[in-house]
Amino acid sequence: MTTIKKITCIGAGYVGGPTMSVIAQKNPNVEITVVDLNQQRIAAWNDENLENLPVYEPGLDAVVGEARGRNLFFSTDVDKAIDEADMIFISVNTPTKTYGKGKGQAADLKFIELCARQIAAVAKSDKIVVEKSTLPVRTAEALKSILDHTGNGVNFHILSNPEFLAEGTAVTDLHNPDRVLIGGEDAEAIEALVQVYEAWVPRERILTTNLWSSELSKLVANAFLAQRVSSINAISELCEVTGANVDEVAHAIGKDSRIGSKFLKASVGFGGSCFQKDILNLVYIARSYHLNEVADYWEQVILLNDHQKTRFAERIIKTMYNTVNGKQIAFLGWAFKKDTNDTRESAAIYVADHLLDEEANIIVYDPKVSAEQIYRDLDYLGTRSPEDNRRLVTVVNTAEEAVNNAHAVAVLTEWDEFKHYDWAKIKENMKRPAFLFDGRKLLDGAELEKLGFSYYAIGEG
Ligand code: UDX
Ligand code: ADP
Repeated sequence: MTTIKKITCIGAGYVGGPTMSVIAQKNPNVEITVVDLNQQRIAAWNDENLENLPVYEPGLDAVVGEARGRNLFFSTDVDKAIDEADMIFISVNTPTKTYGKGKGQAADLKFIELCARQIAAVAKSDKIVVEKSTLPVRTAEALKSILDHTGNGVNFHILSNPEFLAEGTAVTDLHNPDRVLIGGEDAEAIEALVQVYEAWVPRERILTTNLWSSELSKLVANAFLAQRVSSINAISELCEVTGANVDEVAHAIGKDSRIGSKFLKASVGFGGSCFQKDILNLVYIARSYHLNEVADYWEQVILLNDHQKTRFAERIIKTMYNTVNGKQIAFLGWAFKKDTNDTRESAAIYVADHLLDEEANIIVYDPKVSAEQIYRDLDYLGTRSPEDNRRLVTVVNTAEEAVNNAHAVAVLTEWDEFKHYDWAKIKENMKRPAFLFDGRKLLDGAELEKLGFSYYAIGEG
């Protein structure tokens, strides 16, 4: 029976950082080192002031505060950490490829391969290697092949252990997971990882499968969740033309226990690092096996999501007399959802891009996202020059600065604080008519109309 004493995690991002912090918190006898090539990130994880952690997640500061320095360490010395570990988690980023075959669809596995080669080069004793990053099906096979062919003759056991935490609720999701999934071939390696989770997760919630089922389950779980959002978003457009209210429809259908009430909130479109990437991956895999109907079916989830973002931007333009040129539009929120500082694939980026094409002036306020990040997101699109992005977009530190003198306010993220603003005062300081576009159906529309706002919400007729 293998008992794990030392764990190393390669990649200190949104997945690796919080996951290892909780594993360390719950396994005080296991020494955990999280390594990353990014020195700045590691320095932030080691910052004495827990408010400066590189990932913002409610409750994470307390977990890190408890375990860091005891059995949780953050370091840039990747080789040393690999050498010492019994078990190595790979938690590096796997973005969608931006070049070559599968461009725009397949996952870019170069970071994974680099990790595998580094593990193979350094390891002098047997290791259990755990895939934590979301990967296409059968990546484990490639991983094993690299490790076995380039290693020093030591044994590697590969496990797939996909992460299901959602950002913004990472700590509660990790503390109380619906399930933990472990895929693998070697019973002893599987059991070693089961033991780590059993420190706090009831055994019946730890599912074990073969490698391929585990890898595929992760993609399918995200595809199903995203599909629910696209389904309700499709209905939101129908609600707007028929006079129905999408929240009422969602509530009514969600009461059917076969459908369930979660993930039925209409929005300006889903974002985040996972949904789009994982579906694109699924589509790519299906196409590579010539399963065109399967690929088309899932691709539609993305197409609808793109449509929802475009539709919201076009609605703003149309309502504002078909021109937003030179008009000041206040964006409340930039993160892809509340309670995170992550902006990857956020709908706000694409809505802004569309409005900037029309030469709107956008003033952004987000409680957790920095100005540098917002400009980076816009520059990354490559749609216009960095100078133009800075000319047209201003980032401010308070909502008040964003909305003063604005022609319109657009709610892009469902941050709780937006609900509690003094909207009467906001209206007084805006240009007339005071337009309010609620991309999250977050605010009380009837109340705002009483205050004199010209109010539009996704999914409301
Ligand atoms: C998702 C999965 O939920 C998680 O299990 C997986 O590990 C990673 O991907 P995440 O992307 O962090 O997590 O957040 P999630 O809460 O799933 O939201 C994704 C996007 O969908 C957000 O932009 C959110 O605003 C949007 N969304 C979600 C809706 O628009 N409506 C909903 O009802 C739910
Ligand atoms: P995720 O949301 O999957 O956690 P992130 O981009 O937040 O993705 O984090 C991935 C981290 O992995 C980044 O901080 C990146 O620097 C790190 N990383 C990528 N490749 C390597 C590598 N070969 N060795 C160490 N760290 C790596």
